[in-house]
Amino acid sequence: MITTNYLVIGSGVAGLTFAVKIAEKFPNKNIIIVTKGDEDESNTKYAQGGVAVVLDAEEDSFQKHIQDTLIAGDGLCDQSVVEMVVKEGPKRLKELMLWGANFDIDTKGNLDLGKEGGHSEYRVVHHKDITGFEVERALLERVHQLTNIKILSHHFAIDLITEHHLKITDSNSLTCYGAYVLDQKTGHIFTIKSDSVLLASGGIGRVYGHTTNPVIATGDGIAMAYRAKANIKDMEFIQFHPTALYNAEESTSFLISEAVRGFGAYLRNKEGYRFMLDFDERAELASRDIVSQCIDSELKRTGDTHVFLDCTHLDIEMFKSHFPNIYEKCLSQHINIEIDWIPVVPASHYLCGGIVVDKAGKTSINNLFSCGECSRTGLHGANRLASNSLLEALVYAHNIFKYHINNPIKKNKLKIPEWNDEGTTIPKEHVLIQHNLKQLQALMRNYVGIVRSNHRLTKAITHLDLIYKEVEELYKNVKINTTLCELRNMVNVAHLIINQSLERKENKGGYYNSDNKK
Ligand code: FAD
Ligand code: SIN
Repeated sequence: MITTNYLVIGSGVAGLTFAVKIAEKFPNKNIIIVTKGDEDESNTKYAQGGVAVVLDAEEDSFQKHIQDTLIAGDGLCDQSVVEMVVKEGPKRLKELMLWGANFDIDTKGNLDLGKEGGHSEYRVVHHKDITGFEVERALLERVHQLTNIKILSHHFAIDLITEHHLKITDSNSLTCYGAYVLDQKTGHIFTIKSDSVLLASGGIGRVYGHTTNPVIATGDGIAMAYRAKANIKDMEFIQFHPTALYNAEESTSFLISEAVRGFGAYLRNKEGYRFMLDFDERAELASRDIVSQCIDSELKRTGDTHVFLDCTHLDIEMFKSHFPNIYEKCLSQHINIEIDWIPVVPASHYLCGGIVVDKAGKTSINNLFSCGECSRTGLHGANRLASNSLLEALVYAHNIFKYHINNPIKKNKLKIPEWNDEGTTIPKEHVLIQHNLKQLQALMRNYVGIVRSNHRLTKAITHLDLIYKEVEELYKNVKINTTLCELRNMVNVAHLIINQSLERKENKGGYYNSDNKK
């Protein structure tokens, strides 16, 4: 068993920012970060567009950013959270820059500001089209300078430890005491006991198979919190990004940033028609939920597999300097954006809901905090405004840090039992795990996609129950491995998405059920 003061699960922008801040403030306290892949593998690393922050005092204002966020959220944002996050943004960005993150500069020497769907002004700070890569690089560099942070990469958090594991049945409230963790290289499972636990484990994109998210995005933190009986909300609000590069063979879809539409690209159908003009006066720059729903309806109407993003009218040299990564990726797929349209299709991208937290990042379980994409703060409501996610993670990591300064957490003296895997055996049929995973992803794509219906959702529950039973049986009888745990977590997450979808009787933002009235 390992004991630490702070356990952070996840090494994306949320986990690393909190770890840096707490380590700098308390050099005598220990912080352990467990992360299931390489230390930089995360959704953060692939963020393209940037961080939305109000910097241009002449054209922009906090009020405009607040309004844009509220409009995108379709009436379901928590206004006080929106105000707090938007107003904190500039300070948190400055801090990130002090830690060494570089962002593009314009010809006047100011930070270059991009524009994305739903934004009324230019306010997206970026590093070319690889903003997340730069943010992750800078944060990891700072983490490596701090000797009281230890990163355990290729370590998988299996479950949170609460009264349930201590066999305490008469407690009125729940407390988190640490987590059981699998060393993925040795297969050894051990206990990390911690005074405070931060879940910063990111999103759920892989539940859909076809996604912009990397393979780590399997909703582990949300599933762990759910099993520990934390409050989970707004899981029906899955954001589908309108413009993932179409590739029928690959499940991880390369993203064509919304900033490309902010730069002037048009969406066209096969005939060349700019169909977005028929749906919304903001056309290609309507908020993401609207653009994805319109593409979905266009694809259903035409029977096509994808639509196109036309950049041929744009200044090619400027395009290359703003979006070098996208330009190169397209070329590698034999798409020359100067003359070819880019084939695009919506793909699952972001989860607006998750583990419910208050403004200090506290969950409904004592000593358990949550930050970043796995948390549900109330900022996004029914649909997240582009580039508000990195911003949210930076602001909430700071809030959680402040909470810890003002409310030192007491050491727990309880004896935590070790992980018990008696009676389990090495799985002989890995193919069963893969088979169930494929079924789950097909089920979510076909029945729980951009447009849902009560009939499809009910059918989805029946299918999911079968997968659930098979996966639980495997989980109880075989030695734990990462793939099995991830599958189990994705089944839990799918269950939450479907049930919370059925509970929502009104279409809002990213949630559209054809049986509901708008
Ligand atoms: P992540 O960065 O996903 O980090 C999660 C971490 O948890 C990872 O290190 C993972 O390995 C670890 N982990 C997960 N489960 C476990 C487990 N069981 N045990 C141990 N470790 C675990 N947002 C913006 O604001 N602007 C953008 O321009 C933007 N572009 C995007 C482009 C793409 C292609 C994608 C996919 C997302 C984009 N987003 C953008 C969204 C944004 O990147 C993410 O929401 C944000 O980075 C999430 O940060 P996070 O720290 O919460 O999670
Ligand atoms: C993008 O660059 O289009 C992604 C931005 C985001 O998800 O906020």
